[in-house]
Amino acid sequence: MKRPNPEPCRESDIGKFEIVSRDGAARIGKFHTIHGVVNTPTLLPVINPNIRTIEPRDMWDVFGVECLITNSYIIRNSENLSKEATEHGVHSLLNFPGAIMTDSGTFQSYVYGDIEVEPEEIIEFQKSIGVDIATMLDVFGKPNLNFEESQKIVEETVSRSEISIKTANGMMLNGPIQGGLFPELRALSAEKMSGFNFTIHPIGGIVPLMEKQKYPELIKIISSCRHLIPPSRPVHLFGCGHPHLFAIAVAMGVDLFDSAAYALFARDDRLIMPWGTEKLENITEWPTASKTFFGLSPEQIKSYPKEERTKILAEFNLEISMKEMAKVREAVRNGKIWEYVERKSTEHPSLEKATKLLLEYSDDFEFMNWVKDSTRVQRKRGVLWSKNISNHPYVKTSKELIDSNLNQPKRDAFGNNVNKEEWDIVLIHGVQGPWRMKCKELIQNIFSKFENIQIFLQTPIGIIPYFLEDLNPFSHINGPDEIWDYNKDDLKLKYNSLTIIHGLTTPKKAVEQLINSDLELSDKELNEEDLENYIDTYSIISKTALFTGLNFEVAEEWLSNSSYLKGGTNRIRNVFDSEGEHILSPRLEDGGISLTTIGAKKLYDFYNNKQCNIPIIIIDEGAVPFVSKGRNVMHGFINSVNGKLKPGMPCLIIDTENNLIAHGISNCTNSEAIELKKGIAVKIKSGIK
Ligand code: GUN
Repeated sequence: MKRPNPEPCRESDIGKFEIVSRDGAARIGKFHTIHGVVNTPTLLPVINPNIRTIEPRDMWDVFGVECLITNSYIIRNSENLSKEATEHGVHSLLNFPGAIMTDSGTFQSYVYGDIEVEPEEIIEFQKSIGVDIATMLDVFGKPNLNFEESQKIVEETVSRSEISIKTANGMMLNGPIQGGLFPELRALSAEKMSGFNFTIHPIGGIVPLMEKQKYPELIKIISSCRHLIPPSRPVHLFGCGHPHLFAIAVAMGVDLFDSAAYALFARDDRLIMPWGTEKLENITEWPTASKTFFGLSPEQIKSYPKEERTKILAEFNLEISMKEMAKVREAVRNGKIWEYVERKSTEHPSLEKATKLLLEYSDDFEFMNWVKDSTRVQRKRGVLWSKNISNHPYVKTSKELIDSNLNQPKRDAFGNNVNKEEWDIVLIHGVQGPWRMKCKELIQNIFSKFENIQIFLQTPIGIIPYFLEDLNPFSHINGPDEIWDYNKDDLKLKYNSLTIIHGLTTPKKAVEQLINSDLELSDKELNEEDLENYIDTYSIISKTALFTGLNFEVAEEWLSNSSYLKGGTNRIRNVFDSEGEHILSPRLEDGGISLTTIGAKKLYDFYNNKQCNIPIIIIDEGAVPFVSKGRNVMHGFINSVNGKLKPGMPCLIIDTENNLIAHGISNCTNSEAIELKKGIAVKIKSGIK
């Protein structure tokens, strides 16, 4: 069945990359070319123009391939191929309607030694055959070279960049990052190559590591340079085509992969499975379902003549590779890329080591801090318990936000003012949320029978204040019951006393336990309504301070006399300040908050009084009429950013004269806000005329 040819992208969009969905550094993107949109992350099958194991047109029609990669050096060196390509273009030569990337001969120089072509010549040739994305003639930095040799290669590649860009004269160009096994050289290479007008940055020189399955080395290379590449340029892992590496590389911010493995392995009677390779001779039953082998047994395939067998094995290999990439994209869309990475890590000891290296990071690991900065602190779904869950960027970034905002209320439920160090803390453990339902009576008894009490909750990923009890991911972790038990996680607060109570303890027993801990029963009465109001108020204060960067004490002052509109299950729908204005609404699905226009205006006042550090985006004049009417802020129209933007967190939009014109939820980080030129930067909640 023929699939329609792609629609060319708008001329002004060619070469632009937009992020449409993300999970931290992992991004679902759209890369715009004359031969259609390339949806990323994706795998570019390698086509050897001399041996077309699978016809490129079939790749488009049957496998849904949107971009492939071939070799301009091979085409140039063949009289027939070169003639056809120069006369009719590379798309006609290959009979492929999608985007075509070409490599430059660098890999041939690595395999065969010297090659006979100059940097300008190969760019000119790629231009003459109409490729979408060409590659400069970089120097392949083998991992066995020493520092000085690797440095020379980085410098030589950098020194060829300017002439390559000039010769390309507007054609999109790959600017590979070299540097062997030396993190400082990889970083240097990324910094220098980013300074030129390249469209894509492949990370090169890694094939020998892939062949020897040296995955920890590969991970070290990516983590030394990925975060230094401008966010507007897709990153390609040159020569990485094995499906078991897709998830970890995508989680680290890689957008493009290429694979010759599907054809090379097929020629060798080997099958690419999502978990590794298998020899056809060892297979009795298919261990995975596929369209390619549907209705065919391994015995039948084994009996095929060599050429026919190679073709069908290559089709299977490509099908499985494309399917794995789809699975990875789904994990990104669902915010589960790190869960998937950890699950995949068991497929190979080297992959396990690489994953461990990445997930057992220290606080000064620049790359992982960059990943955390790109990660939302909230999302709708729960998380699955796993060995390293506390280090998953989503969990870690949420926990760090809470830990850096561990504020003590100034009063207890009775209205007594309590100094920060005088609180008696009760830590409830052993029970999974929602605690407001599961431990309702217990909580009510503790709060209303003792003064100076604050309640905290033990979750498998750290302690949280009771006032933030519905916050994702803390309240939504799926795993065995034991993970909710007290685990000696330090409460980084000063306090007078700490009592640990199991969440299933009866209120009577809990009261006894507290008395045994030397706490005195209060002689004051606290009615249920006052207690409910206390919990509601501090939950709103805590969330507002947490998500908007409002100083906690200022939030207490602003919100202490709030009133609430509640829904059927007695949960707050709308919050009104002391003047009766609807300022925000809690989001039930993830424990966050949504500001109203009045709430946003109030926060902007606090910001101007230096009491709030909510990030502010200053947009171009031309975009003001649209954004002030509630249209989203698009990349390319941002002037500057004050404060720190974080995907999923609120921000305010002002014009160049400091007028507040809208508020919304950021999709991006600061560098993305400035550098991306296409896509939605901020999803606007409402415009302010
Ligand atoms: N193919 C695989 N690795 C490389 C590399 O480092 N540079 C280029 N140009 N092509 C490659």
